[in-house]
Amino acid sequence: MEIKGFIFDLDGVLVDTAHFHAECWSEMAEGIGIKLSQSDLDNMRGVGRMDSLEMILRHTNKQYADQEKLKLAELKNQCYLQKVNQLTPGDELPETKTFLEKTREEEIKISLGSSSKNAKLVLSKLEFNELFDAICDGTDITKSKPDPQIFQIACEKLELPAQQCIVFEDAEEGIKAALAAGCCAIGVGPKDSPAFRKAHYVIEGFEGWTPKQLIKNLKQTFS
Ligand code: G6P
Ligand code: MG
Repeated sequence: MEIKGFIFDLDGVLVDTAHFHAECWSEMAEGIGIKLSQSDLDNMRGVGRMDSLEMILRHTNKQYADQEKLKLAELKNQCYLQKVNQLTPGDELPETKTFLEKTREEEIKISLGSSSKNAKLVLSKLEFNELFDAICDGTDITKSKPDPQIFQIACEKLELPAQQCIVFEDAEEGIKAALAAGCCAIGVGPKDSPAFRKAHYVIEGFEGWTPKQLIKNLKQTFS
């Protein structure tokens, strides 16, 4: 197994925006009388905007017309944008920038693989754009994770077969998508998280890791 590409999810992997999504969905849901539990919010991690909304609306018998659904999604997005607009360089998760820079030095190609339509804005707030060879976001896909589409497109953009790419993900739906695409899947987050049951490897974060060491450890788990 020769690894030539890294594909990074954004929210919850490179930057702690996953809780912005959760806070804004909670607020929007409360506005229509729905109280979301922590596990509802966890299950929505990595899921695209309209699919997330559908998950919320399963909590009510009330029928919403398409126009109303778009309005609700827009309300949530306005809340999210307010938070994202306050991000500045340095707000990324610890050592993610160093890890991306080392990845480039080792000539491993880098793509983003995020379902978010706001991904480019977040990257620009962090001044991360130039670290990426390719960007795949919510504007590239028609099917949300756990569908493999986003990672298949990322591999195509990197011109690499899926088996040569590692996906970094914080969400169970993302791990499923990575595996379905045929990529190697690394969970980023608590080692004992059930979300990572199927992941090939788990790291708590990027602190203390170099791409070389990570690939070495991964290979050892396969041998
Ligand atoms: C990411 C996040 C999800 C979010 C989705 C769509 O995958 O993990 O929580 O719902 O992107 O984000 P957007 O910014 O397009 O609403
Ligand atoms: Mg994520």
